[in-house]
Amino acid sequence: MDCVLKPQDLSGMDFGAWSRSELDAVESCLSAWVPADTPAGLGLAMRYGVLDGGKRLRPLLVLAASQAVAGHRQAALRAACAVELIHAYSLVHDDMPCMDNDVLRRGKPTVHVQFGEAQAMLAGDAMQALAFEVLTAIDEVPPVLQARLCALLARSAGHAGMAGGQAIDLASIGKPLTEAALRDMHRRKTGALLQASVMMGAACGATDATAWQALSDYGDALGLAFQVVDDVLDVTQASETLGKTAGKDVDSNKPTYVSLLGLSAAMQHAWELRDKAHAALARSGLHDVTLLATLADRVVERDS
Ligand code: IPE
Ligand code: IPE
Ligand code: MG
Ligand code: MG
Ligand code: MG
Repeated sequence: MDCVLKPQDLSGMDFGAWSRSELDAVESCLSAWVPADTPAGLGLAMRYGVLDGGKRLRPLLVLAASQAVAGHRQAALRAACAVELIHAYSLVHDDMPCMDNDVLRRGKPTVHVQFGEAQAMLAGDAMQALAFEVLTAIDEVPPVLQARLCALLARSAGHAGMAGGQAIDLASIGKPLTEAALRDMHRRKTGALLQASVMMGAACGATDATAWQALSDYGDALGLAFQVVDDVLDVTQASETLGKTAGKDVDSNKPTYVSLLGLSAAMQHAWELRDKAHAALARSGLHDVTLLATLADRVVERDS
């Protein structure tokens, strides 16, 4: 499981140059690690679901957090790819007819439309397993760090995080939720993996308790803001811009921040969460959190 990396000096780059360089590194590692050569074409469905698409926000969060704590480069790059694999698997399953029943994702037909439902389910399963293989099949990363990264990722992906949140999402169709219940669902189904991205990056380096807590608070606020904005964009953007079907939440009768608060209050809430994320960074005691601050801005300023 090799991915040859160019030596990089990422210090002093502006956000655009830094993110382009890191996105290239993530893309080439994912392409090297997601196999084409697998039984019965499973790898083709996996590559289709993982490569050539997506904003790669979670990998950028891992790498920005790791940079803020002078983290272990190889460990961070593997964590970046691992969290993207879990995210891509969650999208494949989220789109299946038994969940959101969507036909468009990342500007392409969804994996089950292209390859059939059984293959989509298995591709998601295999992406999840691959995420943990990527985190562990390496000598250069100390075993204690490998285990720590696995634990952070597993907890955020499972019943306490993404999978649990998705279960609440499906159980809430047609039901109005209180703000507390909606917040809990969004934190789990989407926030947990985004927060784990930050914490995996942080785990790659040295942090004191203050920095660790501040980064956790940053990830929590940013993670919730991300899904609030996802709810807003579902209403305000066209499918062509989103690369996924617009208007899906109303059509599916899902409780969202827009259905609860209305469009402008939902967006206002996202800005408040962005400010909370910035405030957490300010109390982290970390020397350079510019990349993380910019990522928080991008989460609320995006149009897809
Ligand atoms: C979409 O996530 C699913 C949610 C968790 C809201 P992204 O908007 O990050 O999707 P990609 O990775 O860019 O396609
Ligand atoms: C999905 O939330 C969260 C996941 C865990 C994939 P949504 O169902 O709102 O995501 P989109 O809008 O389909 O990307
Ligand atoms: Mg969904
Ligand atoms: Mg969906
Ligand atoms: Mg959505």
